[in-house]
Amino acid sequence: MTILPLTLDGIEVRRAGRTILGPVDLRVENSGPLVVLGPNGAGKSTLLRVCHGITRPTAGSTTWSVPRAEADLAQAFVFQTPILLRRTALEKVAYPLTIRGDTKKTARARAAQMLEEVGLSAMSHLRASVLSGGEKQKLALARALVTSPEVLFLDEPTASLDGRSTREIEAILAHAQSHGTKLVMATHDLGQARRIAAHITFLLNGQIVESTPAADFFAGPETAAAQAFLKGDIVE
Ligand SMILES: Nc1ncnc2c1ncn2[C@@H]1O[C@H](COP(=O)(O)OP(=O)(O)O)[C@@H](O)[C@H]1O
Ligand SMILES: [Mg+2]
Repeated sequence: MTILPLTLDGIEVRRAGRTILGPVDLRVENSGPLVVLGPNGAGKSTLLRVCHGITRPTAGSTTWSVPRAEADLAQAFVFQTPILLRRTALEKVAYPLTIRGDTKKTARARAAQMLEEVGLSAMSHLRASVLSGGEKQKLALARALVTSPEVLFLDEPTASLDGRSTREIEAILAHAQSHGTKLVMATHDLGQARRIAAHITFLLNGQIVESTPAADFFAGPETAAAQAFLKGDIVE
């Protein structure tokens, strides 16, 4: 049973009289990691939020292969800056399990295991707010992955982190991918896109300029805009 593909049909998001996304059509397949690449302001976050259902489009539809309520239970979202609640790390990771009906004991045991996997065992009883930036993002990832989602959306999850935290997080993501979680990640970081992507959707000014296998994209994108972005020119 799979919730993919996800199909976006004629999606448009207008804010303050301006079209910030679309119209775009996109099919997210049940295959390797999809990276949504583009400069700041291109509409990457908006696109991911529409996919996950936390931004309502002005026009168009998003369709999963199963009813929405079912699809909602099999996906998670990691924000650029983690949202913090006044909970301990362990409670935070256990929460998605308890709301899905696990007993507190089962949820805590699984959460402890998940914290171990991301290297945060020693911090399980600390409040999330006292953790470092990298630790907070690893905690957000542990929480997102604890339910073994079929699809994980990530909005520039390492944009404000140092190299070491970035490497650790990418290793956690690679592990999740190899265990059956489809990654859909927004980034403006070319190096990260090269390391992670199987497929690139290149976004500029709210439009999908190219959507192609990563190997083709990096071998030579079709559009001048993507070529310029790849060369490191400032594209807007
Ligand atoms: N709620 C909003 N109201 C008005 N403009 C917005 C809103 N959210 C985003 N935007 C604008 O839409 C554009 C795309 O934003 P965003 O999706 O965050 O791009 P990206 O993630 O690629 O940087 C930007 O120009 C941003 O300023
Ligand atoms: Mg963004």
